[in-house]
Amino acid sequence: MRGVSETSGPLRGRRAVVLGGTGSVGEHFVRAYLTAGADVVVPSRTAARAAELREDPAVAGLGDGLRLVVGDYVSFAGARATAEAITAEHGQVDHVVATLGSWWSGAPLWGVDDDTWQRYFVDVAAAYAAAARAWVPLLRPEGSLQLVLGASGVVPVPGASVISMAQSSLVMMRRVLAEEVGSSRRVFSIVLGNLNLRRRGWARPDFVDADDATRLSIGLASGSRPSAEFVLRRPDQAREALAAIGEDRSATGLGQAPAGDLR
Ligand SMILES: NC(=O)c1ccc[n+]([C@@H]2O[C@H](COP(=O)([O-])OP(=O)(O)OC[C@H]3O[C@@H](n4cnc5c(N)ncnc54)[C@H](OP(=O)(O)O)[C@@H]3O)[C@@H](O)[C@H]2O)c1
Repeated sequence: MRGVSETSGPLRGRRAVVLGGTGSVGEHFVRAYLTAGADVVVPSRTAARAAELREDPAVAGLGDGLRLVVGDYVSFAGARATAEAITAEHGQVDHVVATLGSWWSGAPLWGVDDDTWQRYFVDVAAAYAAAARAWVPLLRPEGSLQLVLGASGVVPVPGASVISMAQSSLVMMRRVLAEEVGSSRRVFSIVLGNLNLRRRGWARPDFVDADDATRLSIGLASGSRPSAEFVLRRPDQAREALAAIGEDRSATGLGQAPAGDLR
């Protein structure tokens, strides 16, 4: 990986792992962490998706700080082996961002078939849990685990029960983890509504810009705020969250969701 002296930015000399970094949301986090000066490792289950990210001109132009690792990082055993291998090869990791799984809707709960339940509830919830189990013990104390989640976890979405239920379980997983680690680690969730994503070419004024979510993530990583949950369902909530961590002077108010506020 590139040397400390070759980079600049608030995360210069830091190491980050972006789980799901090959995805539509994840690639925004990969670019943000590279731009912030971090060395970034992205595991992927398939060589094809890894190659797609590596060859993406928007990523390739950001220097040589990106490493891709192909293999299972989503089972409990695979996540642990991947985390240990990355740590052994590159040194202790500072920040882990997880943005895993994709959207599904199409039937009420009673119409969801077994495969859909397995794929969108069990597999996705287990992948996040595997990430937490593997990485929390290995992170630097001043580092962070950041779960990027969907707002369907805090607002019920009819026809997307499996997604809403999986995301909701992960909102709670983060809260439990925060209690379990106490002040020894920092564990965040960034809960996102509809996003303007580069790969989709969207720029809707009512959607949250994915780059605002990454700014929040970088601000949390480079700062010292304790564990917290941020809900960014609308652009104004994104501005408020950035203002709360001092990343956007034009905004006012607090974007951090009070515990128990599930709206
Ligand atoms: N898209 C949105 O507008 C939006 C809005 C708000 C929140 N979110 C949240 O952001 C996260 C990622 O969404 P996305 O749109 O970036 O999805 P995506 O494009 O499908 O990317 C998800 C990535 O997760 C990895 N992954 C690991 N285990 C997976 C599994 N069991 N099923 C599917 N993918 C798995 C895949 O990487 P490999 O195949 O390389 O291993 C994939 O590249 C989700 O949690 C979603 O709730 C998305």
